[in-house]
Amino acid sequence: MKLSKRLSAIDALVSQHQNIIWDCCCDHGYLGMVFLKRDAASKVIFVDIITRVMVDLEAQLTRNNKFRLKSNKKPDWQVLCQDVGTIELTEIEKQVVVIAGIGGELLLRLVQQIISNNSIERVQHVRFILCPVHHTYSLRSGLKKLGLGLVSEQIVYDNKRFYEVIEVSFNTNNEISSTGKKMWDFTQAEHGLYQRQLLSHYNKMLNKDEPYYQKVITDYQALTDS
Ligand SMILES: C[S@@+](CC[C@H](N)C(=O)[O-])C[C@H]1O[C@@H](n2cnc3c(N)ncnc32)[C@H](O)[C@@H]1O
Repeated sequence: MKLSKRLSAIDALVSQHQNIIWDCCCDHGYLGMVFLKRDAASKVIFVDIITRVMVDLEAQLTRNNKFRLKSNKKPDWQVLCQDVGTIELTEIEKQVVVIAGIGGELLLRLVQQIISNNSIERVQHVRFILCPVHHTYSLRSGLKKLGLGLVSEQIVYDNKRFYEVIEVSFNTNNEISSTGKKMWDFTQAEHGLYQRQLLSHYNKMLNKDEPYYQKVITDYQALTDS
């Protein structure tokens, strides 16, 4: 299975063996299946809210299991059909929670819920790898308010669309900036294009809440003001 550039970028962030990887909002489960295949974790947990999708995924994983058991591998996986906001983390170290492919506002809400539904002892072991579709400015501001710190961030240009892959945890003091200051490299033409797209989008939003969106625009412009 060939992953998209976006999912490959997330996959590459898991370089050390983990105890648990949560593939949240997994849909088809492509990413989690790649983690399973390369034994990236002792356990991969797939979570999505759509029953039909999860029944199909469970059937596929069971079929793959039979094949893999023949090759003496014992993949451990679980399929949970539930709201990602209600997942119960465990206290063990080296856990990664991946949430990708949903809007930034929903993504922030899910992270808020995970944090408020789990004790700090559990949440502190978690590295979140987040890749929203749009609304990254408000997502980043919200993550910062939750007390999370930045582990890494990058821009991924995949199939003519821009994505941001944002890695955060409670185990670092690196401040999260609303514009993703560390990920920009304006020697790359694509990054300039992404900045222009964001400015054009937020200019269209100005009439909805002028003071807020004017600040967003000023912050994105400041990336290239020197
Ligand atoms: C576009 S798919 C993303 C698939 C994959 N993560 C990716 O990035 O390619 C979005 C998935 O999020 C799921 N979803 C949306 N809200 C959810 C929630 N609150 N809890 C669990 N799953 C949710 C949807 O059912 C859908 O399957």
